[in-house]
Amino acid sequence: MFGRRGDEQPRASMPMPELVAENEEAVVAAAPAMEVDDDENTSDVVATYHATEQEDTVPLTSEMKKVKEEVYLALMEQIDLQTASQLEKKELEKQITDLIGEIVVEKKLVLNQRELKMIANQIVDDMLGLGPLEPLLKDEAVTDIMVNGPNQVYVERKGKLELTDVTFRDDAHVMNIAQRIVTAVGRRVDETNPVCDARLADGSRVNVIAQPLSLKGCSISIRKFAKKKITLDVMTRQNNISENLCKVLKIAAASRLNIIISGGTGSGKTTLLNALSRLIDHGERIVTIEDAAELQLQQPHVVTLETRPANLEGHGEINMRDLVKNSLRMRPDRIILGEVRGAEALDMLQAMNTGHDGSLGTLHANNPREALTRLENMVNMAGYKLPSHVVRHQIASAVQLIVQIQRMRDGMRRVTHVTEVVGMEGDVIVTQDLFTFDFQGEGEDGLLIGEFKPTGLRPNFTKQAAYFGLDKALLECI
Ligand SMILES: Nc1ncnc2c1ncn2[C@@H]1O[C@H](COP(=O)(O)OP(=O)(O)OP(=O)(O)O)[C@@H](O)[C@H]1O
Ligand SMILES: [Mg+2]
Repeated sequence: MFGRRGDEQPRASMPMPELVAENEEAVVAAAPAMEVDDDENTSDVVATYHATEQEDTVPLTSEMKKVKEEVYLALMEQIDLQTASQLEKKELEKQITDLIGEIVVEKKLVLNQRELKMIANQIVDDMLGLGPLEPLLKDEAVTDIMVNGPNQVYVERKGKLELTDVTFRDDAHVMNIAQRIVTAVGRRVDETNPVCDARLADGSRVNVIAQPLSLKGCSISIRKFAKKKITLDVMTRQNNISENLCKVLKIAAASRLNIIISGGTGSGKTTLLNALSRLIDHGERIVTIEDAAELQLQQPHVVTLETRPANLEGHGEINMRDLVKNSLRMRPDRIILGEVRGAEALDMLQAMNTGHDGSLGTLHANNPREALTRLENMVNMAGYKLPSHVVRHQIASAVQLIVQIQRMRDGMRRVTHVTEVVGMEGDVIVTQDLFTFDFQGEGEDGLLIGEFKPTGLRPNFTKQAAYFGLDKALLECI
């Protein structure tokens, strides 16, 4: 058993940094093993997985919360965090659980075995993991976790938002957890630095925004790393796309088209980008550029770049533009931008126009036309005051395909448009749809009914596909 704390040691309510690092691994290790099988149907609508440790997810009664609080305070007085931080996680977990058992006897608290285990689990999660968020992180059916201050936590399951019973003690507790997440990637969050992007060890993307900017208390948004690979074939089986649409996307990626994936927030852009990137030849050198690295490329030759915010003195920022420019000096075969949000659009277009074909990126827009307008606006953010026809020209010659994805009201994600950019007519960029989703109604099960309809137009990129020997296959899908 680790020693009781000496009086000289500062009282700490947060684990030591060493514990933090260990905890991050624990998040991955603790997640129930799911077989990673491309052939498995992982429908966002038909997801059936639930956390195995049901007791973890049962909320504590207010009586039990008081008991937990009492045990927690006693535990904090008794353990020596310094020694504790040296222990293996499993050993520490066992010792904490034993010590909690002793405290319960000492304090004559009335608890049955199940309640004791529940409280012990939650305290261990608080100390070693991400506290009340742990059961949500373990639950494979949860794709997003949204903490709005201490008393309101939402999750997304099967494409829909749900309020959970999870609460925190107070805002300081939320801040503790947020701090633990961001220190693991060498950042910090406080009143002078209230906004921060980070990543969990398993790749989940995290955004923290604290008071005074967030009025309700610290807000944490976690986009969970999907343990199951969502490939284009999986998407076909889930009816996110049709078989022919799937083939066209595969041919487009393999024929090195410059592709923009467009969609609203959480519509599945990054997931689709990941799926498309699987078609890239293993012999190519790929450079990925993101604000928070989320992409998981399967190829052996990948350089992953991530932007860096300015430090406390306001120095040292490396933004997307810097990274795109730098990537051009890295001899990339393909450049992949996680999300195009600003002036880097100009550099991306230039890259696409100067031999880095096959580049991919995502952006926020509600339809392909709007995606083009957004691109134009973003190029203007670079501040060069280029005439609009020049910018449009550059867009029209760089971008070849726009794939529009949408999370629909039944929670399903569907590709609503596959649109080609075919050129310019006067000052207007000309596009043609190859596929559109034709909405037809709603089924009894609440799922929307519709069809992914090819428009029958001959793809402009048939010639490019022919170069890769894929033109026949392409024309068969249209
Ligand atoms: N086709 C799909 N099937 C099942 N789950 C999906 C699918 N597409 C996306 N998801 C899940 O939905 C969540 C959001 O997906 P993703 O991160 O790809 O969205 P996004 O459009 O990139 O979001 P953002 O705008 O925040 O960057 C993820 O947790 C992902 O696992
Ligand atoms: Mg994304």
